[in-house]
Amino acid sequence: IRVGLLFGGCSGEHEVSMSSARAIAKALSSDQNANHYELLPVYIQKDGIWQSGELAQHVLESGKALPLTGTNEAYLPTSAADAPSSSASSEILPSAATASKLSRVGENIGWSEVDVWFPILHGPNGEDGTIQGLLKLMQVPFVGSGVLGSALGMDKIAMKMAFTQAGLPQVKYMAVNRSQIWSNPCVFPKVCDQIEANLGYPCFVKPANLGSSVGIAKVRSRPELEAALDNAASYDRRIIVEAGVVAREVECAVLGNDQPKASVVGEITYNSDFYDYETKYTEGQADLLIPASLPDSVATQIQEMALQAFAAVDAAGLARVDFFYIEETGEVLINEINTMPGFTATSMYPQLWAATGIPFPQLVNQLIELAME
Ligand code: ADP
Ligand code: DAL
Ligand code: MG
Repeated sequence: IRVGLLFGGCSGEHEVSMSSARAIAKALSSDQNANHYELLPVYIQKDGIWQSGELAQHVLESGKALPLTGTNEAYLPTSAADAPSSSASSEILPSAATASKLSRVGENIGWSEVDVWFPILHGPNGEDGTIQGLLKLMQVPFVGSGVLGSALGMDKIAMKMAFTQAGLPQVKYMAVNRSQIWSNPCVFPKVCDQIEANLGYPCFVKPANLGSSVGIAKVRSRPELEAALDNAASYDRRIIVEAGVVAREVECAVLGNDQPKASVVGEITYNSDFYDYETKYTEGQADLLIPASLPDSVATQIQEMALQAFAAVDAAGLARVDFFYIEETGEVLINEINTMPGFTATSMYPQLWAATGIPFPQLVNQLIELAME
């Protein structure tokens, strides 16, 4: 089976994807792997240029991202004018040139050589339905959720609406649009007043379409709120503000398509103010406790809610569902679903399955089998 491993990506989580891809590549090429896979790495640079063959293999092995300017002239736009206008959201790299390069993704990639794609891309332009749409059009199976599940899982506002519809409890939140922050100086103070009245402090300001805590701020005062909204608006048109809760952070992994299974529940502990990017990716700053020490009834409730969340957004293949557990009241609130969760050997998703009885290489095999169902 020839597996196209699509990694890197036009997103603030590019480096996370590189780490995940290395772990998956190792599992696919392991001699112990029961299935025989041929690995075809395809690297998407931060500026949207696609690279395959030896160059992609080199990036995978070295773990070092390529510089932003394209080395392959064929991918460069002839002029900015021939580029389509960039899409509204996911504006980490929204230049017209980027959009143009992205529109040329089909060139020199060897599409026909791939039996199944593993798009191990996190965040916008990879976990949000865009790549999934492309792969679907190419009619080649791929690991993970389709267009709808990926898009709903990525946008925190749409995700929360789907969760509400499914009856899943969550924190109080407000959706804010960039235009309310940037376009009209009369509207902005009113929006801040509403946030203060409805949610209070501390609250969390988040770009709706990001991951790994990029662009997220915990705010405790009006000046912090204003600055955080302004900053979040630089990442995304859509912004979400949530009431802050004091809770334990617990996570559950889901695996399957129409009859998905839930893993044991894990917990994350850390000493920082919240689980921000640095805490997530600096060794020693966060601990994963697997399984989490929880009453059985709470663990079961979390597993059930994880499966409901998976169905609510129409996810497929895999997802990690994250919760807040408020010990004092026994309440479990859903925080989010990640349809392409971090996948290094030490990441929560594979560790949860390892603790549930599915070791890493077997997990990768199952995901590929699920994609080809
Ligand atoms: P991401 O998709 O980037 O992981 P999250 O919504 O999971 O974003 O938020 C990142 C982290 O911020 C959470 O793991 C948690 O530590 C903290 N956090 C986010 N929202 C809240 C909230 N409403 N109350 C308390 N902590 C929160
Ligand atoms: N968005 C990161 C990769 C995660 O959820 O694990
Ligand atoms: Mg999260």
